[in-house]
Formats: sequence, C-alpha cells, structure tokens
Amino acid sequence: MQRSPSPEQMQRDQLHGRQVAAMFGRIARWYDFLNHTLSLGLDIYWRWRLARVALPKPGGVVLDLAAGTLDVALALIRQYPGIRVAAVDYTLPMLVHGKLKLTGGLEDRILPAQGDGRKLPLPDESMDAATIAFGIRNIRPRMAAHKEVLRVLKPGGRFCILEFGTGRRKVWGGLYNFYLDKVLPSVGSLFSGDRAAYRYLAETIREFPDERQLSRELMDAGYARVFHVAMLSGIVYLHVAEKACAPAAETAPEGCAGNVADAREDGGVLRCFTPDDPGKAPSADE
Ligand SMILES: C[S@@+](CC[C@H](N)C(=O)[O-])C[C@H]1O[C@@H](n2cnc3c(N)ncnc32)[C@H](O)[C@@H]1O
Repeated sequence: MQRSPSPEQMQRDQLHGRQVAAMFGRIARWYDFLNHTLSLGLDIYWRWRLARVALPKPGGVVLDLAAGTLDVALALIRQYPGIRVAAVDYTLPMLVHGKLKLTGGLEDRILPAQGDGRKLPLPDESMDAATIAFGIRNIRPRMAAHKEVLRVLKPGGRFCILEFGTGRRKVWGGLYNFYLDKVLPSVGSLFSGDRAAYRYLAETIREFPDERQLSRELMDAGYARVFHVAMLSGIVYLHVAEKACAPAAETAPEGCAGNVADAREDGGVLRCFTPDDPGKAPSADE
C-alpha cells in the first residue's frame, strides 16, 4: 500500500519543483537547439512516435503535460488535424518560447497554460488522451502526476509517456553512459552556460526507474493496461497506460478549471495557479 508522504517530504518536493522550474527557465532559449543537437535530431522522430500512439478521437482534446516549448503539441496537431491540445507546463519561459511557434491558426488549436502536473487545472474526464515527453522524470512525486492524468482522462483514454530508459543499465558497451556523464554536461554547458542543468539531466536519467518498475507504478496508480516499447537499444522508451473503459459524460476544457485558485494571462500564456502557487521561482535562500 502507498504511504502518504511526510510534511518534510512534501516540502522537499515543492522546493524541487520550483528549482526545476527555475532551471528550465534559465535554459529555455537554448532548449530546442540543444535538444536537436544532443540527440542528432532523433528527438523529432521520438516525439512523432509518441503522438502516433496517443490515438485521440477525431476532434478530441489532448493534454500534453510538461509541454515545454510545445514540440509535442505541434506533433499531435500534425498527426490529428482536428484535435485541440491543452499544453500544460510548470515553467512560464518554456511556454512563452513555444508560443512563438504558434502561427497560422495554431493559436486556436494549442492552448499553453502554466500549471502543475501534480494538480492539473483541468476537470475530471475531460481529455481524450494525454502525452508527456521527457517530463515525468522531473516531477516529484511521480505518482501524483500519474493519478492526476488518470483523473482528467476520459475512460479508455491513453497516457503516453516518452522518456529515457534508466541510465543505470550499460548501453552500447558503456558508450551511452559515457555520453550521459561526460559529453552531455560539457556540450550543454558550452552553449547554455549552465553545466548544473545538464548534469541534472544525466543524474535524473540515471535515477529513473526501469521500464518494468514504471509499468508497475502506473498499474498501482490505477491504469487498467500498460505496455512499453523500447527505442534505440532502450535509450528511450515509449510507455502507454490506458484508463479502463466506462460510460462517461462529454466535457471539454474551457481555459483553467479543476485545481485552480486563480487564473490570468501572461505573455499570451494562461497561468493556472493552485493554492501552492506553482511556477513561483525559489527564493535566494532555497
Ligand atoms: C525536458 S523538458 C520537456 C519539454 C517537452 N515535453 C519536450 O518534449 O521537449 C521538461 C519539462 O517538464 C516541466 N515540468 C517539470 N515539473 C513539472 C510539473 N510539476 N508540472 C508540469 N511541468 C513540469 C519543465 O518545466 C520542463 O519544461
């Protein structure tokens, strides 16, 4: 049985969330360039694969959690032209950079909103599918996000997770692990000037559970069926978790709803604040 976290653990998780948001805020302008460079462009294909398994119904609404600079939202719209995407992320500067890509009517199809994956600003059973790319690793506790996504999914909807495999396993005779430990922080810091951010990336990949553990976690969260697909020798995995089918009322999101105390617009991005004030930068002493 899952024990509820202690108040100290909850405080640590809140602080971690704010530090992660501050870190992504610092590297937001380099994020796309470094992503494509460090993955040799493979990240574009991986996001395409993620969108392909989401399978929303025509005209449906998809949640893209930890949406960052909106590349998954764009991949979804390209594959399912009739849908709309609620693109939720903790870090405002990532969404603001992503928003620059929304031209030619895309502004009406993709709604970027600042919010917390652990307390989604969305009503129950309002999403036809949900995606998250390279984001679940950053959310603590992960279980809170798994359960929140399950809450907002319509029955039968899929939660599709794109994430690195655990960095604890040796891949390509240790070449990949060398890349994680040495190449990634060096190249990342060379361009972004933020070595810590790229060291954090390597550390979180190493700490991340393997595919079986993650599947168990998703089943424990209440999903009815889970499967995964390895890509690039298990460097990256696609996980699909399905919510059980049952009759449901049709609802569609209208801006912010669900866990929201206050909502307003900032730089063209909807900011959905919970009482815990997600996205608040950590103070200097934190
Ligand atoms: C590595 S980026 C991934 C961005 C995008 N999905 C992509 O494919 O490029 C991770 C993102 O997770 C977001 N994030 C971290 N914690 C979050 C939380 N609790 N709720 C929502 N987003 C969160 C960060 O702000 C960051 O934009």
